[in-house]
This record gives sequence, C-alpha cells and structure tokens, in this order.
Amino acid sequence: CTSIAELEKAIRDFEGCALKRTAKNTVFADGVAGAPVMIVGEAPGADEDRIGKPFVGVSGQLMDRMFEAIGMSRARDLYITNILFWRPPGNRTPTLAEQAICLAFTRRHIELARPRLVVLAGGTSAKAILDTTEGIMRLRGKWTSLKLDDGSEVPTLPTFHPAYLLRTPASKRQSWWDLLAIDKKLRELG
Ligand code: URA
Repeated sequence: CTSIAELEKAIRDFEGCALKRTAKNTVFADGVAGAPVMIVGEAPGADEDRIGKPFVGVSGQLMDRMFEAIGMSRARDLYITNILFWRPPGNRTPTLAEQAICLAFTRRHIELARPRLVVLAGGTSAKAILDTTEGIMRLRGKWTSLKLDDGSEVPTLPTFHPAYLLRTPASKRQSWWDLLAIDKKLRELG
C-alpha cells in the first residue's frame, strides 16, 4: 500500500483475521492522518466496535482529557489506531497469532502516517510493536527509536493504557510525566 487510503481499504477487505467474523465493525483510525503524535492502542472494545472508531469509550475519553492537558486534541494533533482492527469477543486479550496477523498493517500504517513520535498505549501494544517480552512496568516512560521496514526511525514512548489508569488512578502521576516528556520531545523536534 502506498497511501493510508489504500491501507484502510486493504484492511477492510482483509479476511485473514477470524476476529472480523464476530466484530460489527472494522476500526481503523481516528484523528488526523499526518498529525505529529500517533497513538497505538490494543484493540477495539464494545463502544469502538459499535461506532467504528478507536478510543471512543470511557478509556478513550480519559485519553482525550490527558492530551488536552498538554494542549493536544484529536481534531488537530493526534492520529489514533490499534494493533487490532477488530474487537476480540468479550474484550479478551488478543492472542499472539491475532496480533501477528495485524502487526504488518500497523507497522505500514506508522510508515505512511509519518508521525513525529509514536505513543504505545499499554503492554500489549508496546510488546507487539517493540517486539519484546518486557512488561509495560519496565518499558513505560523510556524512549526508544522504532525502526521501520522502509529504513525510517521514529521516537517511540510506551505508556500506561488509559483503562489501566481508570483501575489504578495512583499511576496517573507517571502518565503525567509521560505527557510532559511527549510535550518536551515535540519541542525538541521543532
Ligand atoms: N482500548 C484500546 O486499546 N483501544 C481502543 O480503541 C479502545 C480501548
């Protein structure tokens, strides 16, 4: 695929992931393609499946408020997607096979969107994109350079998933440091 529109069509036409059969919608992306920050989450939940857009439920609303705190909005500064384009039944964690099937699409998505930086929301996304078995507790808050297949590299920051923050509000403190680090990095990048 050589454009985001082509990639979206390829994903919508793709029949290689069994999750598509139980999902109501293909959830591709939201926000602005070409925005400076690209957020990659895990998989659509019930609200996302119903509406067809990523991060529109309660955890997405928290994510919006967090980015608003550093002056960034979905309408202008963010491009949002997930590792998986279809909701796993009952919101179970996607299997490694399901993740592997969708990963090539997501990596190409990052190449085509060319964000200034990538934010990986939660352990599943971080492990899949960074190809590591390291957990989110160790990965979070540490910048890494994500190497893409076209030879480009993009600064990437794993952070807690907003659903985790809803369950564990005390961790919001670390997420606030991550938001400040994102703001700082964007300023450094100019
Ligand atoms: N959680 C995710 O990881 N992605 C969504 O789109 C919604 C909830």
